Amino acid sequence: MNLSIIILAAGKGTRMKSSLPKVLHKISGYEMLYYSIKEAKKLSDDVSVVLYHQADLVKREMQKYFDDVNFVLQDHEKFPGTGGAVMGVDTKHESILVLNGDMPLVEAEELKGFLSMPNDIVMSVIELQNPDGYGRVIIENDEVVKIVEQKDANKEELKTKSVNAGVYLFKSHIFKNYLPKLSNNNAQKEYYITDLVEMAKKDGLRVSPLYVKEENFKGVNSKKDLSDSEVLMQNRIKENFMRDGVIFRLPETTYIESGVVIEGESVIENGVSLLGNTKIVNSIIKTNSVVEDSEIVDSSVGPMARVRPNSTLKSSHIGNFVEIKKSTLTGVKAGHLSYLGDSDIDEGSNIGAGTITCNYDGKKKYKTKIGKNVFVGSDTQLVAPVVIEDDVIIAAGTTVTKDVKSGVLAISRTPLKSIEGFFKKFFS
Ligand code: UD1
Ligand code: CA
Repeated sequence: MNLSIIILAAGKGTRMKSSLPKVLHKISGYEMLYYSIKEAKKLSDDVSVVLYHQADLVKREMQKYFDDVNFVLQDHEKFPGTGGAVMGVDTKHESILVLNGDMPLVEAEELKGFLSMPNDIVMSVIELQNPDGYGRVIIENDEVVKIVEQKDANKEELKTKSVNAGVYLFKSHIFKNYLPKLSNNNAQKEYYITDLVEMAKKDGLRVSPLYVKEENFKGVNSKKDLSDSEVLMQNRIKENFMRDGVIFRLPETTYIESGVVIEGESVIENGVSLLGNTKIVNSIIKTNSVVEDSEIVDSSVGPMARVRPNSTLKSSHIGNFVEIKKSTLTGVKAGHLSYLGDSDIDEGSNIGAGTITCNYDGKKKYKTKIGKNVFVGSDTQLVAPVVIEDDVIIAAGTTVTKDVKSGVLAISRTPLKSIEGFFKKFFS
């Protein structure tokens, strides 16, 4: 597509009251700026991100996901402000779309609306009951006359309910002709990108408003905005899954990050968190369970179970207070109260309540391997590294310290002693 995109992300984000740069605050598992770049790349082969405050950190974090984005350092000392931000960017194409890095809810599909208008400038407008904090857009005869920042607005202008959402499409000649003429003669002593509108308009060029929805173009300036946007993003994620046939019980109590995949006839009960690159297929995740970076197929999890990263459950059931980490369970039942870490457990095996894989000796982690049809009695400790072959019974209360061969009963127990008359003697 014949389009360049500039994402503004140099601002300090003072209102966030945070040492973390604003655009690195996460929503549903990813940094806000990640979403802007991801959507931009769907529309353009020429995406630039303007940075300044903690530029190295922001760049490093984004390079984890994207390798073909131009990072541009704003000359913030000399040219602060959103206008100053675009001054140093070289763009390839005739049309330039400007996005803010603090608008994580904008989707590529909606941005296409800006491209279908033939004008010199197209700018996003939202109608708000409470326009507080935004630049006001003065519109006459369906054309934008100018944008006035709240801090520069007079009483009459402050009443305007049409506000600037902060997304614009400029033809490149606008940048070429008017950016050098921007001044910082305003309340904030900044170079405003919004002043380009008034300059172009005065020269008889056309500026069109494009009315957009607040829930998609919401800017994040504070922690309150961050949590409001999180709610909107969560609703969007869950609605998409419901449309694909997933059942959510009390969806507003569940938290599903945007890297999660849910397929088939799955049920997500209340209080569930699905994090990272988790994949759920034809499974039920019961109340208050947490699954992170794991794959659950044809299985049931919880209530109150925790599946930690790099685990795979296939045709298995884990019940309450079972914690799984970096383990593969295939056709396994672990109904209650267990810790299974760094383990591989095969078909038909049953893990009794209170089973612990002792995978850590204080220095290193070790693996536990359990074969097919193994019955692990309650309160068993498996001191790794250890291998239990197929068709084994491990008696309740056993501490397994060496490998167990196929077909046996493994038992380690202190024999029970009964001392006659002890009770009466002790308590009298
Ligand atoms: C800006 C608009 C305002 C609009 C609002 C929508 C201007 C002058 N005002 O105001 O009309 O209603 O967005 O959210 O543009 N940035 C830089 N370099 C800078 C300053 C900012 O890159 O020197 C970036 C920020 O990181 C941010 C974006 O530009 O992503 C917007 O900056 P912000 O300070 O949030 O602008 P607003 O005051 O909200
Ligand atoms: Ca803003």
